[in-house]
Amino acid sequence: MTRVRFDTTDVDVGENESVLDALLRAGADVPYSCRSGVCQSCCLRAVEGRAPSAAQLGLPPTLAALGHFLACVAHPQDDLVCARPGALAGAVDATIRDRESLAADVVRIRLTPNAPFDVKPGQYVNLVRPDGLVRSYSVANLADDDGFVELHVRVLEHGAMSRWIATSASPGTAVTLRGPAGSCVYVPGSPDEPLLLAGSGTGLAPLLGIARDALRHGHRGPIHLMHGGRTAAALYGGDELERLRRSHDNVVVTRCVLDGPGHGDVVEGALDRVIAARLPDLTGWRVYLCGHPDLVRTLQQDTFLAGASLDAIHADAFLTRADAPAAPS
Ligand SMILES: Cc1cc2nc3c(=O)[nH]c(=O)nc-3n(C[C@H](O)[C@H](O)[C@H](O)COP(=O)(O)OP(=O)(O)OC[C@H]3O[C@@H](n4cnc5c(N)ncnc54)[C@H](O)[C@@H]3O)c2cc1C
Ligand code: FES
Repeated sequence: MTRVRFDTTDVDVGENESVLDALLRAGADVPYSCRSGVCQSCCLRAVEGRAPSAAQLGLPPTLAALGHFLACVAHPQDDLVCARPGALAGAVDATIRDRESLAADVVRIRLTPNAPFDVKPGQYVNLVRPDGLVRSYSVANLADDDGFVELHVRVLEHGAMSRWIATSASPGTAVTLRGPAGSCVYVPGSPDEPLLLAGSGTGLAPLLGIARDALRHGHRGPIHLMHGGRTAAALYGGDELERLRRSHDNVVVTRCVLDGPGHGDVVEGALDRVIAARLPDLTGWRVYLCGHPDLVRTLQQDTFLAGASLDAIHADAFLTRADAPAAPS
C-alpha cells in the first residue's frame, strides 16, 4: 500500500486504485475528464517520490522529466507528495477573441495566446477555465499563420465546460492553454500519398486543420474528407468544406447522415458504411479519425482491415466524462 499527499489530503492508494481515484475518494479537488490517460486533464506533479513512468506516456519529455504524471492511470510503487502542475512548460495564458455559433449545438471560439504557443493543426490543447476546470479541444486552423487558435466545441446539455463556453465565455475572457498533445497531424514528405480524413460531429475541427496543413504543404495526392452526423442539423461547416473542394482539385468531400434523408451533396448512411462502399481498398493510404469514441474505434478496425497499415492510422477519440470508466468500488 502506498500513500499519496495532495494539498491537505493524505490518503492510502488501494490495490487496483489510481492516484486520481484515491484522491477523489478522500474528497480532494483534482480536475479530470476521460479517466483513461488520454485528455491529460488530471496532470499532477510529483514533488516528493517517483512519478510512475507508465503514467507519463504521451506527456512531453520535459514535463515527464519534471515529475509530471497522469493521476488517472498512476499506480505508484512509492509514497508520493503531489502538487498541481502550476506554471507548466507549454502552458500559456490566452484571451478569447470571439465566439460564434456554427450550428444549434456547436460553438467556435478563437483564442489569442498571450505568448508564443506552438501547436500543429489537428493536435489538441487543454483549455483551463479560471477556476481550474480542464477539457481537451482539437485545433481546426493553422494557428502559427493565423496568430490565433480555433476550437469547435459541441455544447452538451449538462456539460460544465461546453455550456460555460456557449453562455458565459465572451471576447476578453481569460483562460489558460496547456499542451499541445496528440499525433493527429499531417506528416510532410509523401505529397502523393492518398489521405482519408473521417470523423463525426466536432471531429471535423482537427480534420479541417489537417486538410489545411496538407494543402499548405502542397499535398498533391487525393484528400478525402468525410464528415458524418446523426442528422443534417449536426453537419456544420458545409460552406468551408465547399470552399476547400472548389479551390483544390484533389479534395473530395463527402457528408453523410445516419437518420436520413440525404439531400443535395449529403448522402444517407452510416459513415463507416459510406467509407467502406466508396474506399474499399485503403492500402497505402494515411488515415485520420476523430470524434465520437465508438465511431473512432469502429473506423480504426475497418480501415486497418481495408489495408491501411497500423502506423498510418492516426486517431483521436473525443472521450468525455460520460465515457470514463467508473472508479473501483
Ligand atoms: C483528445 C480529445 C480531444 C477532444 N476534442 C474535442 C473537440 O475538438 N471538440 C469538442 O466538442 N469536444 C472535444 N473533446 C471532448 C471535450 O474534451 C469535453 O469532454 C467535452 O466538451 C465535454 O466537456 P463538458 O465539460 O462540457 O462536459 P462534462 O461536464 O465533462 O460532461 C460530459 C458529459 O458527461 C456527462 N457526465 C458528467 N459527469 C458524469 C459522470 N460522473 N458520470 C456520467 N456522466 C457524466 C454530462 O452530462 C455530459 O453529457 C475532446 C476530448 C478529447 C479526449
Ligand atoms: S488523462 Fe486523466 S482524466 Fe483524462
